[in-house]
Amino acid sequence: MTKSSSLDFPLDTFQDYLQRAVELIIQQYQAMPDTPAYNAQNEAQVRAHFSEPLPEAGAEFANVLQQVSERVYGHATMNIAPKMFAYVMSGGNQVAVIADLLNSAINQNVTKWHLAPSLTEIERCVIRWAAEFIGLPSSYGGAVVTGGSGANLAGLTIARNVYFKDQGIREQGWFGQTPCVVYASTETHNSVLKSIELLGIGRNQYRQIPVLADYTIDTQALRQQIQQDREQGLKPFCVVGNAGTVNTGAIDPLNELADTAQQEQLWLHVDGCYGGLASALNELSEQYIGMERADSIALDFHKWWYQNFEIGCVLVKNWQQLYDTYYTPASYLDEGPAQAHSAVTKSTEPRFNITEHHFDLSRNGKALKAWMSLKTFGAERMRQMIRKDIQLTCYLAEQIHQCEDLELVSPPCLGIVCFRYIGATATAASNGSLDRYDKQQNQEQLEAQIDRWNRLLIPALEQDGRVFITGTTLHQRRVVRACLINHRLSEENIDYLVAVVREVAASISKD
Ligand SMILES: Cc1ncc(COP(=O)(O)O)c(C=O)c1O
Repeated sequence: MTKSSSLDFPLDTFQDYLQRAVELIIQQYQAMPDTPAYNAQNEAQVRAHFSEPLPEAGAEFANVLQQVSERVYGHATMNIAPKMFAYVMSGGNQVAVIADLLNSAINQNVTKWHLAPSLTEIERCVIRWAAEFIGLPSSYGGAVVTGGSGANLAGLTIARNVYFKDQGIREQGWFGQTPCVVYASTETHNSVLKSIELLGIGRNQYRQIPVLADYTIDTQALRQQIQQDREQGLKPFCVVGNAGTVNTGAIDPLNELADTAQQEQLWLHVDGCYGGLASALNELSEQYIGMERADSIALDFHKWWYQNFEIGCVLVKNWQQLYDTYYTPASYLDEGPAQAHSAVTKSTEPRFNITEHHFDLSRNGKALKAWMSLKTFGAERMRQMIRKDIQLTCYLAEQIHQCEDLELVSPPCLGIVCFRYIGATATAASNGSLDRYDKQQNQEQLEAQIDRWNRLLIPALEQDGRVFITGTTLHQRRVVRACLINHRLSEENIDYLVAVVREVAASISKD
């Protein structure tokens, strides 16, 4: 065989390279306790590593692996470590690591049944398990997608195509239709707004309904807005409820939203990407009442099923809705008449083609990692880990409460708690010897000072790198937001987080 006849290595070389890659992975896990959460070089240095021209001639694979070791693994953000509290970054799990490798090695395309028979059935099984995990019937249909944003887009696409089916939405598009309106709280994830734009609904037809003090949707304001839109000749179409908001973990009153949706004949989509899977905990199930009435639900397995990126899922009440939304015939996908097929294959069942139930044609077998993880750990272990994250979030809130220089801004909710650094000045400002005017002036100055500290705190913590945490804005105040979604977390990690935040904050407030 000449060197150019294929891209393959001899099998023993392939095996050697695989082993080296495995060693690299093991080293990364060994180094986890001592590696900073954030240790990227600056932007110019990172870019310099990857600014070389297209390599015309290849290099030794061992050299390439070495570069990955130094330039990618060596400076990777430690999402896997229990020092990551930013955004919604689950630590993944080791079974999923292995599953992704196994999946890639057989390079299945989970699109037409005969291209990936086992992985097609695995995907259907994972969808059934997801429904079961959150207490829904196994008759639900769904699609495994890239993540939460993909799940919201899929849910709202199905919503549009099913709701407006009789108006010929797939044939006519929005042409000649009364503009339709979608409702969601101001705390809703931006992937909902992005989806509304992509679906041609337009952001002017997206009503961001105010929230109450606990960051859940103001249902009275929602009903008033629907009424007002009807009076203006618009077509209210869909309401989006949050089963755990991204900012604070707040769960909207889903049952009330379901009632409103029913009365007003709207589609109810629930964004359960962050918190939907936590509804599997008995002690929380009451908070989620009404989710089972949703027409579509977005879930994210790379959050509370501890999957490695990327994998999410949309669930709808039956498979037909997916088929009605996506099925688009094409001669090059046609296997010929079903009868001819069954005559040859002796199979009596029609084949289930995922591509007929989803947008993508070529798709990898990402469901394998969820399937292998659930089989290895079982649903109960998953529930235990979610429960642990939630308990640790309460523990974090208690620690914050006990620190006079920190202030809780939102109560612990699911795995999120928001707080801010207030320094030692808060009590000084409320000092009784000042008159009312001075006190108010003092309070305003102090508020501005606190806001400045908290704006500086996040980049300062990134620079420090020992933990990775980000912020958000709640009621116009900049706050630090901790999101705990890692089965590797313990109280010790929480104590460490609090100590690092206080230390870095104290150094800022000195300047
Ligand atoms: C409530 C909610 N919806 C949607 C998303 C988007 O998910 P993804 O990042 O997987 O696209 C997130 C992400 O954090 C989320 O918290």
